[in-house]
Amino acid sequence: MVEATTLQRPASSTAGPALLTVRDLQAWYGESHILHGMNFDVREGEVVTLLGRNGAGKTTTLKSVMGIVGKRSGTITFGGADISRASSDKIARGGIAFCPEERGIFASLDVRENLMLPPQVRPGGLSLDQIFDLFPNLRERLKSQGTKLSGGEQQMLAIARILRTGARFLMLDEPTEGLAPVIIQQIGATIARLKNEGFTILLVEQNFRFAATVADRYYVVEHGKIIDGFANSELEANMDKLHTYLGV
Ligand SMILES: Nc1ncnc2c1ncn2[C@@H]1O[C@H](COP(=O)(O)OP(=O)(O)OP(=O)(O)O)[C@@H](O)[C@H]1O
Ligand SMILES: [Mg+2]
Repeated sequence: MVEATTLQRPASSTAGPALLTVRDLQAWYGESHILHGMNFDVREGEVVTLLGRNGAGKTTTLKSVMGIVGKRSGTITFGGADISRASSDKIARGGIAFCPEERGIFASLDVRENLMLPPQVRPGGLSLDQIFDLFPNLRERLKSQGTKLSGGEQQMLAIARILRTGARFLMLDEPTEGLAPVIIQQIGATIARLKNEGFTILLVEQNFRFAATVADRYYVVEHGKIIDGFANSELEANMDKLHTYLGV
């Protein structure tokens, strides 16, 4: 294994041992070389956020962990097992779930059908009652078709759906994108609750004001590499740098 890099920061006090470790991850779509050696860790119980400009490679990083890019190299371990060359199916059964930016809600299916769609891949998945406890408005919308849901409801459904599978490591790609502030707040509260219940979360966000309400640590992605990393307690001190990195 590659030596720990200077970018690996101390974990937050609540975090356990490293659950996901990514070393020298490179990824390609066809001939396009997108990730150029990513190194980062996510410890058990943490919420870790990847920040970075459009096209930096954040989504590709999540897809690489899930095993759904054209080609990847490097070493990814999850719960001590090497998943660098595992199929996406095997990775899912190992307990990793991915909630894509485009949410993937089927318009012609209702809320219950959308919820039931992904298979339960391992024991410990949330029951429908537990899911409705987290997302009360989904219970009321159970018979509504995907097309009838608001953006916020679709996002909640997309998160709810992966909780049924039994995964304990959730990768959420820009869950607040395009949503109203009050809905963003609800999603933040949900993420905080999932963390409390022992889920580990790797989040991609452009909105670092939102990320600050839930994240333990951040990594900054630029041109397919991690160029910086810091704890949430260091966010204020890194604000100027962040504005430059993100161009905001
Ligand atoms: N399927 C694909 N085929 C070829 N190139 C792709 C594909 N998907 C993404 N890319 C390219 O890979 C690079 C990284 O894209 P990626 O989606 O990982 O960025 P991102 O950081 O998630 O950006 P955003 O903030 O816009 O979501 C971009 O240059 C993008 O154009
Ligand atoms: Mg993206």
